[in-house]
Amino acid sequence: MKLKKIMVIGAGQMGSGIAQVCAQAGFDVLLHDLEKDRIDRGLHAIAKNLTRQVEKNRMTESEKSAVLERLIPSMDLHDAGGVDIVIEAVVENMDVKRDIFAQLDEITPDHTILASNTSSLPITEIAAATDRPENVIGMHFMNPVPVMKLVEIIRGLATADDVYKKIEDLTKMLGKIPVEVNDFPGFVSNRILMPMINEAIYTLYEGVATKEAIDDVMKLGMNHPMGPIELADFIGLDTCLSIMEILHEGFGDDKYRPCPLLRKYVKAGWVGKKAGRGFYTYE
Ligand code: NAI
Repeated sequence: MKLKKIMVIGAGQMGSGIAQVCAQAGFDVLLHDLEKDRIDRGLHAIAKNLTRQVEKNRMTESEKSAVLERLIPSMDLHDAGGVDIVIEAVVENMDVKRDIFAQLDEITPDHTILASNTSSLPITEIAAATDRPENVIGMHFMNPVPVMKLVEIIRGLATADDVYKKIEDLTKMLGKIPVEVNDFPGFVSNRILMPMINEAIYTLYEGVATKEAIDDVMKLGMNHPMGPIELADFIGLDTCLSIMEILHEGFGDDKYRPCPLLRKYVKAGWVGKKAGRGFYTYE
């Protein structure tokens, strides 16, 4: 069975990027969100990215049009009835994800693979909301999706080998590099990255240095392309907080306690670049 048609659920920063790379690889892609405005913004962001590719002579105008034509907006989850794979990229919240997976289990044909782009939530628990846990898998893209090569592929307890293989092949077709990991809180990427970001926010909270100084230390001293405070804004402070809470709960160790300053910013709605304001302000 060949994977042909894909639905991406959630048209935010990750979902729109995932939809873009799938459409660029030749797949028909339904881009689904609850809010029409989010789909419009997602499609607009994709068109802008592709225009930049044309300007750099990496793509022709007709290739760009063909990619955009393969992207179909969807506001009805029942549109998933004809797809071979769903990649879910909605908010980092277990209840919301389980609810979507339970609905998809009813809506989609038996062969459909249900993948989640979760940053940290247990795939096994998401899979348990369905009657097909063997067809559920984690497909964790990095931000920004069109640029970053890695996809962490997470095996849930019941994930079937042939499902893993299909997702590994799909990842390569998207021009990405798959890395296999087992289902543990934060997987590999965020188990290592997020405590560093949280520690950087503690460093700011305790007045050790300004945010600019903290970012400079990590960029100039450790050769990181972005400082941790800047990176937290880029990821989304709401997403960072959710991941820290999942690590804290999952391992039960106080070293994962989210910094109170991170909580404060999320409560204020200053959730980073996507909101125009996080630790830094954006146009
Ligand atoms: P975002 O806030 O930009 O987008 C989330 C989208 O989901 C919004 O458009 C929202 O309207 C939509 N949504 C919420 N509930 C929905 C529902 N029930 N049905 C359909 N759409 C719904 O968030 P972002 O950053 O794109 O994150 C999405 C997922 O990707 C999260 O699980 C996050 O942990 C994961 N992720 C995020 C990364 C990042 O750097 N931001 C990196 C890798 C994974």
